Amino acid sequence: MFITFEGLDGSGKSTQTELLAEAIRGTGRDVVTTREPGGTPLGEHVRELLLNGDGISAWAEAALFAAARAELVDQVIAPALENEAVVICDRYLDSSLAYQGVARGLGVERVLQLNLPAIGDRLPDRTFLLEIDPVEAAQRVGGNRDRIEQEDEGFRREVAVAYRQLAETFPQRIEAVDGSRPPAEIAKEIFGRVRESL
Ligand code: TYD
Repeated sequence: MFITFEGLDGSGKSTQTELLAEAIRGTGRDVVTTREPGGTPLGEHVRELLLNGDGISAWAEAALFAAARAELVDQVIAPALENEAVVICDRYLDSSLAYQGVARGLGVERVLQLNLPAIGDRLPDRTFLLEIDPVEAAQRVGGNRDRIEQEDEGFRREVAVAYRQLAETFPQRIEAVDGSRPPAEIAKEIFGRVRESL
């Protein structure tokens, strides 16, 4: 099974990735966790370019995220799924659809078409969208921000709206979760939803 977490920076994705991995490992299944951008040597280089550089054009940004994703699927995600592991990824395709497709204005469909060949059409089985107010999310991130986190509140609002629209467009795959609650409570709800399909 391939599970992804999505949401704004500060929505608690990384925490929930770890908590879900722990809970699934408790059932005896192998779990591989990974993150985007990054997760491979090439992906970590691309992450540096994307998050620390400045003045990247929107399509270059989208293409670099897609390149890191292609490598991650090829090197980590596909082999793990072939070995019957549960794969949990902190961000994936929907991040590009929301951030580059909508907030950068490139178009969801065009960014999807850029990414599908890169990921060999490998979509997640389930995606949990951690929803949180954009102002609260920014407060949680604090002062040490990367290039994309430095975008203004309007950008974050656009990303939040984009995610909500994606959840409405792909209701079979994307499940919205109230991310404003205590982490343990959110983790319990998500594991409850996943357990039956393990
Ligand atoms: P992330 O790894 O969540 O940041 P952190 O390490 O600080 O938790 O993601 C870094 C930023 O990249 C984040 O602001 C979202 C952005 N991003 C995109 O714009 N498009 C994408 O496809 C991905 C994967 C991330």
